[in-house]
Amino acid sequence: MSKIYHQPPSPLQRLSLSLFVFVELFHLTRADVGTAAQYSPPYLPTACYGNDQSQFPASNLFAAAGEGIWDNGASCGRQYLVRCISATTPNTCIQGQTIQIRIVDHVTKPASADGTTMVLSETAFGTIANATAASMNVEFQL
Ligand SMILES: *[C@@H]1O[C@H](CO)[C@@H](O)[C@H](O)[C@H]1NC(C)=O
Repeated sequence: MSKIYHQPPSPLQRLSLSLFVFVELFHLTRADVGTAAQYSPPYLPTACYGNDQSQFPASNLFAAAGEGIWDNGASCGRQYLVRCISATTPNTCIQGQTIQIRIVDHVTKPASADGTTMVLSETAFGTIANATAASMNVEFQL
């Protein structure tokens, strides 16, 4: 017959559990700010998946990653929650709209040279901001 020993956690175990919970909470709520532009079809081929049409989510919410988040290609397939926080023109943001986009491409110059964080598909851009705008400031998180 096996016996299970229940011991109270040691101070070190308590500390590491607290740290783990803290780090997880921090991760879940951590959001960064950056800028988002938009791009038009043709969207193929992409730097991540070439000519594979199935790479685009059915929602058409996807984006190309700028240098800041490209991560040497490791960003391919990452999903970010994105919302518009401000823009040069007042009332550009559609309040209360957050989208989840999938990274499928790498921003090519010149947008990348301007430090654009991500370039959204037309559908993605138009869902969170006035589609006639050129760019917006966004809050984003994994
Ligand atoms: C979008 O922006 C354009 C240009 O500023 C403006 O004329 C138009 O009314 C805006 N559309 C909406 C839905 O706010």
